[in-house]
Amino acid sequence: RASAEVPADLVGRHVVISAGGTREPLDPVRYLGNRSSGKQGYALARTAAARGARVTLVAANSVLPAPAGVDVVPVETAVQLREAVIKAAADADAVVMAAAVADFRPAVYASGKIKKRSGVDPDPVALVRNPDILAELSTDRPRAGQIVVGFAAETDDVLANGRAKLARKRCDLLVVNEVGERKTFGAEESEAVVLAADGSETPVPYGPKEELSDTVWDLVALRFP
Ligand code: CTP
Ligand code: CA
Repeated sequence: RASAEVPADLVGRHVVISAGGTREPLDPVRYLGNRSSGKQGYALARTAAARGARVTLVAANSVLPAPAGVDVVPVETAVQLREAVIKAAADADAVVMAAAVADFRPAVYASGKIKKRSGVDPDPVALVRNPDILAELSTDRPRAGQIVVGFAAETDDVLANGRAKLARKRCDLLVVNEVGERKTFGAEESEAVVLAADGSETPVPYGPKEELSDTVWDLVALRFP
């Protein structure tokens, strides 16, 4: 959008966005992680700020520069991300979970570096589940009328998987991306369908992450009480 047409429809609103990918430590030097770049979450933060919102960006391991005027809260693990998002959500009008949250973390953290021993096979890594932050936020909304948005990358029957996930998580909107060619992690552009709990579907053609972000904010603003 040209700056002259940026709506000021988020003035007076506080929005919380999670971005990046969590890292779950095995020992002081190793972690289980994922390839999320944080670009989509940062684009959501920039566009929300441009539309007048107060923005809290809970950023998991992203190396991107902090957007101007945005309050960035750095975190590493899913447990830390949950703490930070739930704290910021207390007075938020909308929460958008763009972060790739690890579903599992190592069951034990070795406080010293794990060493190899000659002739001894390594132990398997036991995992435990991380909290589902999106489901928790959607179920126990700290504010009546708070809008909760999730993201999902899917393969195969993308829309059916997305619909099932939207229902399971109980969020208001779920941005569904198809993973595959051109649609890789770290890309500058994306293509998506935004599914809503009211049954509507908004396709967003392949384009800059800012455009998808603006569509998300349009749909969020429409749902504010
Ligand atoms: N999410 C979350 N907490 C988790 C896992 C995911 O809040 N422990 C959020 C993500 O930030 C995203 C949405 O849930 O907004 C969907 O993530 P996804 O990994 O697609 O959902 P899962 O329920 O983990 O399903 P899957 O088994 O397909 O990974
Ligand atoms: Ca997952």
